[in-house]
Amino acid sequence: MKKLPVKSITNSVQLKFAVTFLILIAVLTVFLNTYPTIASRDLVFSSKKVSLQNQAGVMSSSLSAPEDLTSDTVPEVMDQLDLRSLTRVIVTDENAKILYDTAQFDPGVGRTAMLSEIYRALNGDIVCYSVYDGNAFMTREAMPIRSGGVTVGAVYLYEYDASQAELIKSIQTKLRGVSLVVSAAAIILMFIFSRALTLRITELAKATRIVSEGDYDHRIPVSGHDELSELGIEFNSLTSRLKETEELRRRFVSDASHELKTPLASIRLLSDSIVNSENMDVDTMRDFVTDIETEAERLQRTTEKLLSLSRIDSGTSLTRERLDLKKVTEKTLKLLHPLAKETHVSITAALSKDCFVYGNEDLLYRVIFNLAENAIKYNMPGGTVRILLKTEGDEVVLTVEDTGIGIPDEDVPHIFTRFYRVDKARSTDAGGSGLGLSIAHDAVKLHGGEIGVEKREEGGTRFIVRLPACAKPEGGETK
Ligand SMILES: Nc1ncnc2c1ncn2[C@@H]1O[C@H](COP(=O)(O)OP(=O)(O)O)[C@@H](O)[C@H]1O
Ligand SMILES: [Mg+2]
Repeated sequence: MKKLPVKSITNSVQLKFAVTFLILIAVLTVFLNTYPTIASRDLVFSSKKVSLQNQAGVMSSSLSAPEDLTSDTVPEVMDQLDLRSLTRVIVTDENAKILYDTAQFDPGVGRTAMLSEIYRALNGDIVCYSVYDGNAFMTREAMPIRSGGVTVGAVYLYEYDASQAELIKSIQTKLRGVSLVVSAAAIILMFIFSRALTLRITELAKATRIVSEGDYDHRIPVSGHDELSELGIEFNSLTSRLKETEELRRRFVSDASHELKTPLASIRLLSDSIVNSENMDVDTMRDFVTDIETEAERLQRTTEKLLSLSRIDSGTSLTRERLDLKKVTEKTLKLLHPLAKETHVSITAALSKDCFVYGNEDLLYRVIFNLAENAIKYNMPGGTVRILLKTEGDEVVLTVEDTGIGIPDEDVPHIFTRFYRVDKARSTDAGGSGLGLSIAHDAVKLHGGEIGVEKREEGGTRFIVRLPACAKPEGGETK
């Protein structure tokens, strides 16, 4: 996958952040500038309608009393009423002839009314509506005048109200001002925050790239207590672990090649000597070839151990089964018998039955073999090796103890490290490579167990392995 430059990643993060924020602000501003205006306008509309309808009702019922609606009688009645709030009031008879009109400019008394609202009222409807044009509320109301169940005329009311409109306009202006200030402040804050945020993300992204290119010493300066700081701390500890792993890997490769190089060099030297000496006697030659064979065996053992380690490292694919550790231990001891005899070391074993674990037979065999082999190899002629196997609670415990040379305190923390040997000469003479204990350690860990070492008071060493016991299958299997 092609890598994007760090800058462009964080820029796009910032852009997304800014766009989302701006949309949010825009939506909020639109809402703030429309909803309150619409709501207060609707409020004015309904209060206007109610008030005009009431006034029209009063007029219509006052005018239903005189038998005859005439241009003389109507003004008399109307003078009794309070018409101050209304811009225009018209009263007509049943033929839409205007009997009364408060228009200051060209009142239409005597003429036929041309307003559609009046015709609808004469048809028996009550008409009422209000409009707002941004400058004023204009409300119109028309109502029939009824007398004895018959429509005898109509009243028409018109109100032009600019003061309420003023009020709404001033609210609108204020809201606009407020939202402008708030939006500006929010945008400025957003830029400051997103800048700070993306700067830190950029730093993290850069650090990741630097480390991925191999500089495991790079660390992010961490301050504060937020999620990004936590990410920084995690990143730093991840980098430290990467560094450790990388160092281990390098050391392992160089140790392993060194380990393979030494016997190979001996083999070459020995075979060169055979090839270059013209008259080598048969006995010398046999000695040389025997040495070559020993070195080749050492090579084989080392490569086998390396293979075991790599199998443990890729652990999960190992086959596991229910194992009787007593049987595995007995098999191992049989194989070690010749070595014990050769070095004059005696082996005693106390193995309980019912020591079952769920694991890989080959690896657990190696654990027991390496511990027992060490106990024999690093022992003294006439010494003993004791092997105990028992269950303790839900654990199977294997103890391997010897009366041997012991391990110096300062070496104890290192003995499970790959290729570590306390006495390199002794180990090499005994065909060791310093891998046995690390294989045992890793294999035990892979099985969810623990391995430990302690000094025996009487001299010698004791290794203790604890493995989770395998539950007995139904019906119990004891042999
Ligand atoms: N039972 C023991 N007594 C004394 N020293 C031991 C014992 N087991 C292991 N060691 C020391 O620990 C080192 C590492 O052991 P191991 O990994 O098995 O490597 P090696 O191939 O040398 O046996 C050995 O070289 C030896 O110095
Ligand atoms: Mg060993």
